[in-house]
Amino acid sequence: MAVILGIESSCDETAAALVDDGRHILAQRIASQDDAHRPYGGVVPEIAARAHAERLAPLIEATLAEAGVALDEVDAVAATAGPGLIGGVMVGLVTAKALAMASGKPLVAVNHLEGHALSPRLADATLEFPYALLLVSGGHCQILRVDDVGRYRRIATTIDDALGEAFDKTAKILGLGYPGGPAVERLAAQGDPRAVPLPRPLHGSAEPHFSFAGLKSAVSRAKESGQYRDADIAASFQRAAMDCIADRLAVSFGIMGDVTALVVAGGVAANREVRTLLEGIAAERGLRFVAPPLTLCTDNAAMIAWAGLERFRKGQSDPLDFAARPRWPLDPEAEPVRGAGVKA
Ligand code: KG4
Ligand code: ZN
Repeated sequence: MAVILGIESSCDETAAALVDDGRHILAQRIASQDDAHRPYGGVVPEIAARAHAERLAPLIEATLAEAGVALDEVDAVAATAGPGLIGGVMVGLVTAKALAMASGKPLVAVNHLEGHALSPRLADATLEFPYALLLVSGGHCQILRVDDVGRYRRIATTIDDALGEAFDKTAKILGLGYPGGPAVERLAAQGDPRAVPLPRPLHGSAEPHFSFAGLKSAVSRAKESGQYRDADIAASFQRAAMDCIADRLAVSFGIMGDVTALVVAGGVAANREVRTLLEGIAAERGLRFVAPPLTLCTDNAAMIAWAGLERFRKGQSDPLDFAARPRWPLDPEAEPVRGAGVKA
């Protein structure tokens, strides 16, 4: 039985986990940096990198101790090697290289997005390729066709903000603090989703891509107008976002061909409205709907260990001079999209 140590440090979660072939998470630890970044209303890269550097080694030690696994009993060391904030990625990757070197075990350099893309298979042994993946987090907003380990076709991406980013910016506009997604969802539950007229950017476009910048600006104008209750703005924003997801998915399904399931991953998958919407869309199309447990949806190291394990089982590993990649698209053949910013 193979056991993989996974390390994640690409954004504001420092995490380590041990996962085996039997889909068991033997131990996992996550140190969130929310408190450190809260005063700034978003993740500050320099603060994140320093926090990862301070916390990662003791966190790995605690994870191994909790599982009662010694470093030399691990079969490979997997770490996120990108995309993400480069300082943090380097802390995790260099740590993994040192552990791999010290133990003589292979290094697996994992694409963070591949971690999200394969995490549903850690939770669900029956999930078969190919599946449609909606990956929605603070940094990513993509629709992918997952054909196999290492084979991804990017169908849609965002030309500006990611969906989680739109939730976070809406939270900031409404004075709800950081991270904003859960706070917007809670407030939206008390509001009327039809109260505030908001745009559905790119709705009806033949291209499958997302855009949320215009929606965010409209939320800002609605707030400044003083005409609406905050709860109504939150609910109307959330409804607009759901309409965008439904419309963009419909176009994407037309492009991607047959799949076995609709899968959601990334932090926004924690949102109940998102889950309900996707359940309905999957049912209409006769597809299974698979949503990993919330702890596997937000950034974590178990998904990195699992992606590392899937690659390790295929005989893959990476050299110790593998360089951290701030950008690392899952589908190297995907065309850059007009207006696309720094998103992977
Ligand atoms: O996957 P994740 O932990 O980190 C990234 O890779 O970005 O996702 C975090 C994002 C944040 O933007 C957060 O506001 C959003 O996921 N999020 C939510 C909810 N919970 C987290 N968005 C909407 N509703 C939620 N309940
Ligand atoms: Zn992520």
